[in-house]
Amino acid sequence: MANRSSEKGEPTTSSPEIVPRTRLTRRAFLGVVGAGVGTLAVGGLTWKAVQGGVFATGTGPAYAAWDALGAPGDATLALVSAAVLAANAHNTQPWLFRVSPDRIDLFADPTRTIGAMDPLLRERDLSLGCALENLVLAGPAHGLATTVALLPEASDPTHIARVNLGATATAASPLYAAIANRHTDRNAYDTSRTVALAQLDALGALVDTPDVGLAWFVRDAEKATFGELTLRATEAIIADPQQATDDYAWYRSSWDEIQTKKDGITIDPSGQSALIRALSKIVRVTQQQNNDGWLNGMRTIQVPTAAAFGAIVVRNPTDRIQRLTAGRAWQRLHLSATNAGLAVQPICQVPERIDRETTAGLPADFTTAMTSLLPSGTHAVMTFRIGHPTTTALRSPRRPASEVLL
Ligand SMILES: Cc1cc2nc3c(=O)[nH]c(=O)nc-3n(C[C@H](O)[C@H](O)[C@H](O)COP(=O)(O)O)c2cc1C
Repeated sequence: MANRSSEKGEPTTSSPEIVPRTRLTRRAFLGVVGAGVGTLAVGGLTWKAVQGGVFATGTGPAYAAWDALGAPGDATLALVSAAVLAANAHNTQPWLFRVSPDRIDLFADPTRTIGAMDPLLRERDLSLGCALENLVLAGPAHGLATTVALLPEASDPTHIARVNLGATATAASPLYAAIANRHTDRNAYDTSRTVALAQLDALGALVDTPDVGLAWFVRDAEKATFGELTLRATEAIIADPQQATDDYAWYRSSWDEIQTKKDGITIDPSGQSALIRALSKIVRVTQQQNNDGWLNGMRTIQVPTAAAFGAIVVRNPTDRIQRLTAGRAWQRLHLSATNAGLAVQPICQVPERIDRETTAGLPADFTTAMTSLLPSGTHAVMTFRIGHPTTTALRSPRRPASEVLL
């Protein structure tokens, strides 16, 4: 339809199809503003996404230690580079190393603890055992034989190990080769596949000393009992203000903080969906949201998709040598599982509640329940799930060797 014009050549309002200039102008104005705001919003969101590391998963200084392992350099330092990639509680990385040409001394860093989540420092000792295992595995790969003395100085409880170095033929073991590929897998596991008993036995054989062993929960009834106990322990931690606060203190939500501190629990390896991970990097996650996500993930993904659960057990959970040995065993088990294409995740809420009960004078609820699941005379120092992976587990941040030297 042809437009009609007034004498002045301006549109009139005589036809509803002819839009008056004032309205046109306003609408156009609003359109421009709207488009501008939209562009700004998208631009702002994109900027926030970039700032939050949405497009940079697993990169930057916080993750460089994972690529440094194979890089040429000093052989002795290479052992420390392997050690820092070990599993460790809350990614606190509670270690320090003193390096000399013929020896490496491993110390606990007393500032890197998780308070009421680990009141007896059980998990710290296990973590140090994990680091020691990687360090020892790296020896032959760099032509160095290692001789380990645990807790070599009675007067210094932070002196965890003295590792004397000698020469040996260079040979990288399969477990050493797995060090940079090992990641805690918090994603769903493949529920259509079980883990063969022979595979579980082979992993169990890696955890076999007089005082340290492995208990598997494979049958439906024991899996259900342990799964329920773990969910209840998760709820108990969330309901315990001190444990919940100390747990959240190691949660790193900003990309800047992750890249600066290079430690702590981060969203990428949490097992959450890609969308939740992206949103969590854009909008700061509160303690409440963190707890909700944790409990929901445990309830809907981590417990129900486990092919089996396991517990590393010791005769005396306060014996530090047994704890360190258990940590070394966990690291070996995780590396071996990685090579076998299996996924594992420590889920230690039950031992964490047991230690809390012991130190806070609480009723022995979880202590009693866990004892009834285990062989007599043994105590769980680490509990975990195992299964076949459904996706690639992501890296967690690490401080490089250069930042953990004394
Ligand atoms: C003693 C110990 C206890 C742990 N407890 C848990 C746990 O309860 N839940 C969990 O998701 N991961 C747990 N982990 C795994 C650590 O969070 C993980 O090793 C750390 O964040 C570094 O990540 P990475 O293993 O992928 O390198 C534990 C690890 C150790 C050594």
